[in-house]
Amino acid sequence: MKDDARPGTRVVAAGRRREWTGGVVSTPVWRASTILYDSVADLRESAGRDTHHRLFYGRRGTPTQWSLADALTELEPGAEATFLYPSGVAAIAAALFSVLSPGDELLLVDSAYDPTRSMATGLLRRFGITTRFYDPMVGAGIAGLIGPATRAILMESPGSLTFEVQDIPAIVAVARERGIATLLDNTWATPLLLPAIGMGVDLSILACTKYVVGHSDVMMGSVTAAPSHWNRLRQTSFELGQVVSPDDAWLGSRGLRTMAVRLRHHEASALRIARWLQTRPEVARVLHPALPSCPGHETWARDFNGSSGLFSVVLAGGGEAARAALIDGLDLFGIGYSWGGFESLAIPVDPHRHRTATPPDFAGPLVRLQIGLEDPDDLIADLAAGLDRFAAALG
Ligand SMILES: Cc1ncc(COP(=O)(O)O)c(C=O)c1O
Repeated sequence: MKDDARPGTRVVAAGRRREWTGGVVSTPVWRASTILYDSVADLRESAGRDTHHRLFYGRRGTPTQWSLADALTELEPGAEATFLYPSGVAAIAAALFSVLSPGDELLLVDSAYDPTRSMATGLLRRFGITTRFYDPMVGAGIAGLIGPATRAILMESPGSLTFEVQDIPAIVAVARERGIATLLDNTWATPLLLPAIGMGVDLSILACTKYVVGHSDVMMGSVTAAPSHWNRLRQTSFELGQVVSPDDAWLGSRGLRTMAVRLRHHEASALRIARWLQTRPEVARVLHPALPSCPGHETWARDFNGSSGLFSVVLAGGGEAARAALIDGLDLFGIGYSWGGFESLAIPVDPHRHRTATPPDFAGPLVRLQIGLEDPDDLIADLAAGLDRFAAALG
């Protein structure tokens, strides 16, 4: 593949080295715990050499995992390498432990995925690491929050549930000046829509469970590191014993090959549906980064190459019962948490329960939608009937 290949070409070609594929198209599943050596001398010599892309012990991976990790690295211009984890949350944990030590402070965006918050206030606190939550719209104002113990800033853009878009370049510029590590949960955009390492982020995190896998049947996470942060990330991940099964890595690679086309469909359908929802009287506001009604929309327009399929809708009034009437009767939307697959989903979300720094000021209840690969006209018809049920429940 040429150095200037575009992202849509990279997802197809990346990570498929001939020495790993053996001449077939995709790297096959290499299952291993034990690696055999030719002699005692060979075994001794292997212990001292770099195991990157070399068989050593099952936990260090085989070509199946290396192939997916390399492909993800190749989507992030300027990145050094990628480590894979058995879930997105495991990836977040390894990334944080690679940059934080007891006595340090983490600045964590208030709109972060809730289990990320719990990790900070639970596990990290037990290890003597404190967390300060910050407003997702803080931008360069992050400088005012940095204290003597601040060592890392974790961003998630757009935010979970409420989709505020953060000013990543402004935060990265401040962090660089102060020698603070920057981490980004880039699951919503993927490197195709936001090449984070190229924007100066040190550790770019994906819940591969979502768009990389794309079929709602594998849990996986990844962290792609800038050269300055790779060795610490890799060592921390080895010490935590992290490894993904080769079968899951193979499914991850299979999903990745179609990620660019899937994202284009998710984007077009989600935008169409989001715009239609804006015209409905039952909808107070649509929180979709590509629409001006979303906080940080201008930042999205400046920094992102597109949008994906997940957004929230603020309903015009009503409570739990009316919201449930909308969701429960949907035919094509499943009710489930993990998004990024080929199928549409709808869930009630209550961001007020999680926020501590900046309570969101929405009047009505929220529904989060994942727009899948179904025909958008069918999805619109399903949602229209749902909004009618919602209006009827309001009385
Ligand atoms: C933004 C975001 N980050 C991380 C995760 C965690 O990923 P996983 O479910 O693979 O642990 C999720 C899961 O929903 C998510 O939405």
